Amino acid sequence: MMLDRVLRIVAAALIVGGTLTAHKSSAQDGAKIAAGEVVYNTYCATCHGDGLVSSGQTFDLRRLEAGARSRFENSVLGGKGQMPPWKGVLTSEEIDQLWHYIRDNAYQK
Ligand code: HEC
Repeated sequence: MMLDRVLRIVAAALIVGGTLTAHKSSAQDGAKIAAGEVVYNTYCATCHGDGLVSSGQTFDLRRLEAGARSRFENSVLGGKGQMPPWKGVLTSEEIDQLWHYIRDNAYQK
């Protein structure tokens, strides 16, 4: 009986804890997405299009899938084709924010 009560308290605590963690991480993601949009508008929109809508001249960033993070970072840091490298221009925090913004608007979530 006693054990039963303890287990119920532990289970309730886990549920409350889980809910708090989930809210916290989604609020953080929301902040990253918003910050990423600002970074994008500052550095990327001229070539990649307003609101990530590509004119067709450059890579459509909304095509990047969840598993493409390292490809994304390599291209952004090192540059590709007509795109200059962004190493030394963007911080890793800004690149992380860009990634969240792009993924939030991606075709495949
Ligand atoms: C001067 C124009 C220009 C700017 C500014 C620019 N890009 Fe690009 N970007 C390009 C072009 C052109 C390509 C296509 C390169 C190719 O495949 O030859 C490209 C490709 C990419 C790719 C895909 C590379 C791949 O893996 O195929 C990513 C990711 C990317 N850009 C991210 C960004 C981000 C993030 C920014 C802002 C920090 C940015 N770009 C700013 C022109 C630009």
